[in-house]
Formats: sequence, structure tokens, C-alpha cells
Amino acid sequence: MKLLLFFGFVAVAVAEVTRFEGDKVFRLKPTLDAHVTLIKDLAKSIELDFWSPDSEDLVTIDISVDIHVPARYLDMVYITLEQGGVAHEILIDDFQSAVDGQADSGASPRAHSYTKYNTWSEIEAWADTISSSNPSLLSKQIIGNTYEGRSMVLLKVGKSSASPKPAIFIDCGIHAREWISPAFCQWFVNEAVTTYGSDSAMTSLLNDMDVYVLPVFNIDGYVFTHTNDRMWRKTRSRNSGSSCMGTDPNRNFDAGWCTIGASSNPCSETFCGSTPESEIESKNVANFIRNNKSTIKAYLTIHSYSQLLLFPYSYTYGLAADHSELLKVAEGASAALTSLYGTRYTSGPGAATIYPAAGGSDDWAYDLGVKYSYTFELRDTGYYGFLLPESQIKPTCEETMLAVKYIAAHVQKNL
Ligand code: ARG
Ligand code: ZN
Repeated sequence: MKLLLFFGFVAVAVAEVTRFEGDKVFRLKPTLDAHVTLIKDLAKSIELDFWSPDSEDLVTIDISVDIHVPARYLDMVYITLEQGGVAHEILIDDFQSAVDGQADSGASPRAHSYTKYNTWSEIEAWADTISSSNPSLLSKQIIGNTYEGRSMVLLKVGKSSASPKPAIFIDCGIHAREWISPAFCQWFVNEAVTTYGSDSAMTSLLNDMDVYVLPVFNIDGYVFTHTNDRMWRKTRSRNSGSSCMGTDPNRNFDAGWCTIGASSNPCSETFCGSTPESEIESKNVANFIRNNKSTIKAYLTIHSYSQLLLFPYSYTYGLAADHSELLKVAEGASAALTSLYGTRYTSGPGAATIYPAAGGSDDWAYDLGVKYSYTFELRDTGYYGFLLPESQIKPTCEETMLAVKYIAAHVQKNL
């Protein structure tokens, strides 16, 4: 009797982590307005997890729509798609195996590694270690706390100097489930400290400029993807009057806030929040950038997936004043990236290249006066999507370094 109760308790404790047995990821190709309506209706009647675009509100004709379908809805989704004549294919046939298969690097699950997906506590400890072992190049600061009270760690990379230097700001992990993004920020810091002094571009960059690196923006969400739900995207704040939690931090900035491609429904994956900067994490980042507005010359924000290099605007189809320069630099950066392993990127302004979506950090930074404002959507194009295996961390980070260094060199040349 006692034993049964004990096992009963263990079962309850373990069941906290969402499992995905039998789930699949579909790619839909709507070619008629009726297909778009069907997909939106489907999303209203059952709980679908949109991978791309970020929510049903952003579905349009002639784009690929990647959705994660829980096992219990498979039959009805199949029947609905067949009857409605929506072209579809299966991207991930066995979702739980793809989740389990991410950790294919062979790295120890309990030690920090640049080629595995580290937990927040590993990243936090890493930030301490790497900054204390490289005091002449690295310093650590806390820019505020998250909703759940975690310290938002920011690393400043650059040769120390008596006078303030122009800077580049890079953040990773705005969206919790995009695990390749924080991996890139860690990779960048390590590359900087290990190649300073030998790589001439890196040496000159860090002599002339500082690079602020925020390894994880949405720490609470990132922790939640490790402990509870691998597919969580938003922050973890409570919403008054709703049992749904979280705001999309990349809809929460004061740039055409909540006018287009964002939702005022707290249950939506693209919920814009109760006000611009309602999320403490967005507010902390915005405050830091505002306070250092005179030195910050570039803003890079790292997401996944889709292999895109985007720049303003996303809140309007209107072109940015610096459109042609931003495009030229994006194309140069993409070409540099492709040169390593042939990975193909598409570049362009957000609204026209993917979809209009207001409240993004890139548009906000640009309108504040940070001219070189770019959003990266790293690998892949949907084969693994958010579940990119650890064996792809190294090639992804290596190629992305080339694009980031290309942009940085352009910024440095134009100081
Ligand atoms: N997938 C990203 C997002 O929806 C793209 C961001 C592009 N920039 C923007 N301001 N919408 O958050
Ligand atoms: Zn994202």
C-alpha cells in the first residue's frame, strides 16, 4: 500500500514535463483563401502549436505553414486537410524522438559545452568563469531581474579602454524554444576571447569597439523549456483576467505596438502584452539600450528558424530610410555565411520578407537611432525546426560568425 502511494507520487511529479508521444509536425501549403480560412478555423477549434508563422493570425496564401499537431488531433487534422484540399506534408513524423534526438553531441549532460544546449544554470556559471578568466577582454554586469527574479546577465566583450567605445549589442533567446540562439551567443563570446590577438578582424573589432552580449533575454521562458514544456515561446508573466501566461517579448517593444501581426489576446503566442515594455525583460533591455544610445551603433537579435537575415521595417511595408545600405550589408553578410557550408539565407525587410509584425526589438532599436539593426533567423528551414540537433550547433555557429563579423566590419568601417 505504502509502495503504491509512493509510486503514485513519483508518477505525478514526473508527469509535470510535457511529453509529445505520437505528435507530428505538418507543413501546409495554402494556395486559396479558403485554405487560409480552413487553417484559421482549425486553430480556433483545437490547440495547434504554430512553428511558422508564429501564430494563426499570420497565415496567408502561398506561404508554408508549419504546425505541431498533438497526437489526439491527428485524425481530425488529416480529414480536415484532405477534405479542404490543402496540400500538406509531414516534416516531423515522431515528435518525441526528435525532442530526444536533439542531444546527439555526446557532450556530458552536466557540464557546460559550446556544442550542447546548456541549461540556464550552466550558462550563468559559464558567464562567471569566462569573465573571470578573461578580465582584460570581458566584463559581466546585471541589467535587471526577470519576472521570476533571475539576474539578466550581460557580457561586455572588448579591449578595455579609458574612454567609452562605440558598441554593438547582440541578444539571444528572446523566444524561449529557439535553443540554437543562446548557443550562438555563447559561441560568439568564446570565439572573441580565443581569437583575439590571432584573428586580425576580431582583434581590430575588439580594439575599436565593445560588443555587448546578452546570452539569454527570456531566461524564465528558457528555464521553462528545460523543465516543463520544450515548446514554450513567451515570457512567464501572469496576465490579469486570464489563465494564459506570458507575453511575446518580440511584440512588446514600442514600435507600432500591437497594430499588426500581434495579438491582444493573452492566450496567443504573439500576445503583445498589456502595454509596450510591460515585460520586465523587454524594459530592462530597452533601458540599457536607451542609456547607451550614444555608443550603440548596431543591434543584432538572434532567433530561429528559417535562415533569414531581416532588417526594418516589420511594423510597416514602408522602407527604412537606410534601406539600400541595410540590404547591401545583409546580402554581403548572407554571402559570407553561405561561403562556409552552402547554407542559403534570404535577406530583406521583415514585413515584405516574412510577414508584418509590430512591436519587435529590431524596429524599436532602429527608430531609436541604431542604424544597423538586424534579426537573424538561424538554421534550419523546418526539417528539425526548433528541435535542431546539437550536432548542428558547431556548423551553425561557425557560419553565423561569418555573417556577424561581416556586419561588424561594416559598422566599424563606418564609425
Ligand atoms: N520570427 C520573428 C518574430 O516573429 C521575426 C522578427 C522580425 N522582426 C519583427 N520586428 N517582427 O518575432
Ligand atoms: Zn523568435
